[in-house]
Amino acid sequence: MDSPVEEIKKRIDIVEYIGSFINLKKAGRNFKANCPFHQEKTPSFIVSPERQIWRCFGACNEGGDVIKFLMKWEKITFIEALKELAKKTGVVLKKINIEDKIWKKRERYFNMNYLATEFFNYLLLNSKIGDKALSYLKQRQIKTETVKKFQLGYAPNSWDSLKKFLKKKEFSENEIFENGLIVKDEKNNFYDRFRGRLIFPIKDSRGNIIAFSGRVIDKDIKEAKYINSPETPLYHKRETLFGIDLAKDSIIKEKNVYIVEGEFDMITPYQNGLTNFVAIKGTALTYEQLMLLRKYTDKITLVLDADLAGEESTKRAIEEGEKLDLEIMVVKLTLGKDPDEAIRKDLLIFKKLIKKPLPIYDYLIDVLTKKYSDDTSYNKKKIAEELLPFVDKINNPVIKSFYIKKISNILGVSEKSIEDLIKQIKRKQQQEFFFKKKLQLKSPKETRELLIEKYILGIIFQNNNPYLISDKIFSLIKTNYFSIVSYQKISEVFLDFKKKFDKFSVKKFVNLLTPELKEVFDEIYLFASVEENLKFKSLRKLCLEIKKNYLKREIKKILEINDDKTNKKEQLLNLNNSLKQVEKELIN
Ligand code: CTP
Ligand code: MN
Repeated sequence: MDSPVEEIKKRIDIVEYIGSFINLKKAGRNFKANCPFHQEKTPSFIVSPERQIWRCFGACNEGGDVIKFLMKWEKITFIEALKELAKKTGVVLKKINIEDKIWKKRERYFNMNYLATEFFNYLLLNSKIGDKALSYLKQRQIKTETVKKFQLGYAPNSWDSLKKFLKKKEFSENEIFENGLIVKDEKNNFYDRFRGRLIFPIKDSRGNIIAFSGRVIDKDIKEAKYINSPETPLYHKRETLFGIDLAKDSIIKEKNVYIVEGEFDMITPYQNGLTNFVAIKGTALTYEQLMLLRKYTDKITLVLDADLAGEESTKRAIEEGEKLDLEIMVVKLTLGKDPDEAIRKDLLIFKKLIKKPLPIYDYLIDVLTKKYSDDTSYNKKKIAEELLPFVDKINNPVIKSFYIKKISNILGVSEKSIEDLIKQIKRKQQQEFFFKKKLQLKSPKETRELLIEKYILGIIFQNNNPYLISDKIFSLIKTNYFSIVSYQKISEVFLDFKKKFDKFSVKKFVNLLTPELKEVFDEIYLFASVEENLKFKSLRKLCLEIKKNYLKREIKKILEINDDKTNKKEQLLNLNNSLKQVEKELIN
């Protein structure tokens, strides 16, 4: 019987599994996609059906099996991913012997938060202490059913009741502190962070409780209206969206997500059947939040508070959204100060309003023409200067030229002058960019030498007829021409294999490799699918380049040897002749 890990991998096809999250396209023997873990415009994410692995050859430069994929996709530990896939495939995990400290801590802190949530929720619903908070919720028209769904709670106005409760459950003060539920004073004494507040548990997309926010319920209290958990091992504010656990299925179904400011702006719509809302909790929309949403939808709709009118957050959203190729719409609230209030005023009108969002560029034009409303040449310049950097970054040429036309109409100038201004702005940005780049240290890049070697090997294994193509390649180069020992070894094993078996099989071949070589092989094998630049070069030329590099290395080696053995000169002469020959051929 295989190990559970092996058993799980047998029962899941990686192409089908990853394909259920992202759009995979066939590329030779492999599948290709834009990497879901970083932003890019040309696909460098490769999945191999034969090897049942994936790899990103772009910024991530990472890869692995189906378990590793899920770990990265959900940002979870190995054991969490293993458990999920075991459940999916029906593989029984008896005992997990793996010592995983990070997972253990996460599991423990999730549990602590769960217990704290129950504690707060009990006080809200079942004790006199929570009466005031409960009637506050009633007054905001939140139903008991909703309170239960969101596991809302009440933190009593006490310095240590939660601390005491959690200590009884065997959590240490240091743990409770690290998890953000208690605070340290100057004398290093710990006390409860949330006191006398309505509590909202904050969850990740899988429904684990990762943090809390607490709202005051008395109007006259002078403290901050909301306080939130700090950054903890579980809580990373930048990548969290309130309500995502309950909204994600609807977001997928509706192919759209409404982004609102506050907890109540998410809860009230939910209670009224509008279930694809999430809240950013009063901060600017971040790149991390958009990466999270991109898993579920290509379109997002901002519902901004009327008072904020969010000019800044709109601009931020445009920049990040365009990079990720997201369609961004904006709903201008005209009914109340925020969605919560608008719904309580008139649900039907609210529903109509959110059905008619504006594309974000139209919204921005609207905001800026109002901001600089006087019809003066200076104002026109200002509007153009603020708008055009965004227009310039629009990926789709049709949409881009549409807005150039629209802006030229609004400003009463020619399209040509708008285009000229864009060029000017671009030049300025480029100058700044190059200046910045000069200051940055260059990251070590793979040399062309290595790239070609990797590619040539990859081509052999990816080909429908590896034997045939290898005949051509190995008529031009020898296995020892490769600059890396593992490449030499892999090609030797391959030639050996060719002698022994009539037909090539990746599976059989891989079994002949040591674990270290296997890893190198996997990288080579997937690499050829991603290397677009070398695709159009002739194989012959690439092989000759490998040979040229080999000869150069050999010459250098001999020159570095410090003895006067007899044949040194002769060897050099031979190598130099071969090198000249190869260089001549390369020119032709
Ligand atoms: N917020 C915060 N800290 C504050 C104020 C607000 O984190 N001091 C965040 C909260 O997530 C809140 C959101 O910004 O839900 C929107 O703020 P606001 O509308 O003022 O909160 P509400 O509770 O909706 O207040 P109101 O009843 O006035 O609408
Ligand atoms: Mn509000």
